[in-house]
Amino acid sequence: MHRPVLYQEIIHALQPRRDGFYVDATVGAGGHAWGLLQASDPGGQLLGLDVDPQALELARARLAEFGERVILVRASYVTLGEQLSALAWGAVDGILLDLGMSSMQVDTPERGFSFLVDAPLDMRFDPDNPVRAADLVNGLPEGELADLLYRYGEERRSRQVARAIVAARPLQTTLQLSRVVAGAVRGSGKGRHPATRTFQALRIAVNRELESIEAVLPQAVAALASGGRLAVIAFHSLEDRIVKGYFRLESRDCICPPHQPVCTCGHKASVREVERHPITPQPAEVEANPRARSARLRVVEKL
Ligand SMILES: C[S@@+](CC[C@H](N)C(=O)[O-])C[C@H]1O[C@@H](n2cnc3c(N)ncnc32)[C@H](O)[C@@H]1O
Repeated sequence: MHRPVLYQEIIHALQPRRDGFYVDATVGAGGHAWGLLQASDPGGQLLGLDVDPQALELARARLAEFGERVILVRASYVTLGEQLSALAWGAVDGILLDLGMSSMQVDTPERGFSFLVDAPLDMRFDPDNPVRAADLVNGLPEGELADLLYRYGEERRSRQVARAIVAARPLQTTLQLSRVVAGAVRGSGKGRHPATRTFQALRIAVNRELESIEAVLPQAVAALASGGRLAVIAFHSLEDRIVKGYFRLESRDCICPPHQPVCTCGHKASVREVERHPITPQPAEVEANPRARSARLRVVEKL
């Protein structure tokens, strides 16, 4: 079983205690959760959330050894506050959000996350989500599709890509889409596969990822006990920008415009940034797991 991204760094950041309460809001295959439970032995408790029932099955098997110390719930982390109220644990000591896709999801061709193997255009984390990537690819007007690729994929050639997609509709599979995109952006960008940005954009839109991150961060900070920590691993700049912006804002006492002589906002800092710069994987980790290369961990502590 391979180690999750920034494993040691997460254990170090959340400093699990034997009587602590922890939330892994993106429990996936349970790798980080296993580490948190082991490090908080024998009394630490963990709530694990995921929207993907296949992920929860893996987590259930992996965490079975911890018995009643673990509660796994199929729910979006957007409902974090609600889930914690239902448990009546009170304030918690640590929360983890490991954003993005799990290895299981990328490596299961029929989920449609990978542009390297042919599969239906799906990309849903939650199989009950009514919107698949194919719905956006085949259903959006060209202008909206271009905006989506620009906003969520930072695709500079978004208009060209959208035009090529609309001309080739209907597109049913990942390889059909990736060939159309490669044809439209030929010669641009070195190194990365030309469909990387388009696939990222569709995945973010299908799963409403950015809206979800914006919704969960205030709930997570509110749920922490004083001295409790929130750790977030982001995998691309759009996610990281939201996390960084929120942490910066919440670690300041006044958020009035800089030229204003007297504070009128009354804002009070609720957290402190544990490190000002994001924590990134060591070269050895990136070598062993190339998917870790874009990971950025930010950690705050509740005041
Ligand atoms: C990078 S993986 C987590 C891997 C995990 N840390 C581990 O150690 O195995 C991200 C997980 O978040 C889940 N996820 C995505 N959006 C979610 C949401 N809104 N609520 C809960 N889980 C979500 C995905 O289904 C996926 O299993």
